Amino acid sequence: MSKKKIAVFISGRGSNFKAILNEINKGTINGSIELVISDNPDAKGLLYARDNDIECAVFKKSKDCSRSDYFDKIISTLRARDIDLILLAGFMKVLSGNIVRAYRNRVLNIHPALLPSFPGEQAQKQALEYGVKFSGCTVHIVDESVDTGPIVLQEAVPVLDDDTEEILSDRILEREHIIYSRAVKLLCDDKLSITGRRVFIK
Ligand code: GRF
Repeated sequence: MSKKKIAVFISGRGSNFKAILNEINKGTINGSIELVISDNPDAKGLLYARDNDIECAVFKKSKDCSRSDYFDKIISTLRARDIDLILLAGFMKVLSGNIVRAYRNRVLNIHPALLPSFPGEQAQKQALEYGVKFSGCTVHIVDESVDTGPIVLQEAVPVLDDDTEEILSDRILEREHIIYSRAVKLLCDDKLSITGRRVFIK
């Protein structure tokens, strides 16, 4: 099976991107990161990508550009490089319908909560404020809405009495790196089958 060509979308630190690149470099994942895309020229993860000789492309969105036109430009860049899979890793823009359709079932996202609980921003803060005893992380397929697509993998972590948002976030992040890499491996090995909302591992 040929290696899947991957584009990773980031807006900030890029620790999930690093974790996946690390697994690829170890030979665990049958894919290669061809491109890192960011909406933020100052995203720290871009420095890491450049240090690792991975092509980076920054797409800043101007106010007069529609979301659909913005993502059309990105789609052209992805097609020119024959990208097979997109990984959202802390990318702060909501994908438009045109890119979701162009890459149907080939876009993954990592979310720092057990979906469908606490979608959207500041998921760890939402979990603490709600008072749940367990939170965690979710890798899901990206559909037309925010954090609603079919769930590939989840892992729970406890919420402890003296947790701050930062402590809980760190505990979750450690597990994010593991389940995201695992999900990417499954996708690259064509081991995921999707029926309605359910994702099965073949
Ligand atoms: C992670 O917590 C991820 O779950 C969320 O954004 C954060 C990105 O962190 N979607 P990083 O940039 O991968 O370090």
